[in-house]
Amino acid sequence: MTSAPDTLPAVLARGPIDGLAFELDDGPTIEFGRGALATSAALRDLPAPVGIVASRGRLAAARAAGLEPADAVVFDDIRPHATATLCAAADERLAAARAVIAVGGGSAIGIAKAVAAARGCELAVLATTYSGSEMTSLYGVTEDGVKTVTTDRFAMPKVVIYDPSLTDSLPRRAGDASLMNCLGHLFECGWNAGPADATRVLAEVGVRQVAAGLSARVDGAEETAKDHLMLAGMCGGMTLASGTIGVHHAICHAVGGLTGSSHGEINAVVLPPVMGALRQVIGEAQEELAVPLHDLLDGDCAAHETVARLRDRWGLPARLREVGLAAADVGRVVDQVDGQAVEGGLGLERERLASLLEEIW
Ligand SMILES: [Fe+2]
Repeated sequence: MTSAPDTLPAVLARGPIDGLAFELDDGPTIEFGRGALATSAALRDLPAPVGIVASRGRLAAARAAGLEPADAVVFDDIRPHATATLCAAADERLAAARAVIAVGGGSAIGIAKAVAAARGCELAVLATTYSGSEMTSLYGVTEDGVKTVTTDRFAMPKVVIYDPSLTDSLPRRAGDASLMNCLGHLFECGWNAGPADATRVLAEVGVRQVAAGLSARVDGAEETAKDHLMLAGMCGGMTLASGTIGVHHAICHAVGGLTGSSHGEINAVVLPPVMGALRQVIGEAQEELAVPLHDLLDGDCAAHETVARLRDRWGLPARLREVGLAAADVGRVVDQVDGQAVEGGLGLERERLASLLEEIW
């Protein structure tokens, strides 16, 4: 990492954020701030022709914020989980592109990553949610109800633009679900890291940004709120890149592969109970990470209860059946999660895992 450690605290002290740019070793050039898309030199340096992966709505928002060129070929069939069929269709549509620009959250980014990895071409991301996917070389492809997550160096973007104006048209529920995914990254990578690890520090910074964003939202300062929340999403992505996920995300990916439901909404269901189940092992880390959220909610409860309160306040689902999981498929989730090696990330004993999933079905 080159200048990020010097830059982030200065930015965090400032409140509203604009004009931040820095580079990470072996990572993307990052440009952050309202208007960053219109002024980005890195985006214009991509080799032509570029192809774009974006839903029509996200593309319109990006075009309004300055995305060029107007005649780029676009793949716009974006669905919650990238399937092998969808990725092949995107690859065919963007066959002439020498660089791919993804506009969106994890779904659009996942398809663009698969295309970039298959073709060895450059990738840029305009983030429009808090998925953090833009900060990693990880991507998942679903086939026959099983989501396989892989890593490829071409799936790591060269350029990431965080222009919070792109979240202005993000529906509130989709944004809140994406925040639950962001909290999933911050908490899970945070508790899997040691107290002095950079990943833990990033996770703490990220949770503070979530709290600052929600606080600004309550005050009606929508733009400031979105600046903070986008920074939280970036921190979540950085924790994914530098840290380790574990049983929480293993469950989310298994459920996502079987249902095709939104990864954010699945996080809303799974994160509080998994936090509760791991409380005896890493409760202290959870409590440290949750301090800004406790302060925000004036809550005198455990970290997992605070996250559940946020989830309920946002009207997000609390049961696996609400995100489309069939009762008969609970055992398939147990098999998939139990069969996975969770390197460096906390897991759950099979029996505990099974009873937890039954409880939250
Ligand atoms: Fe996630």
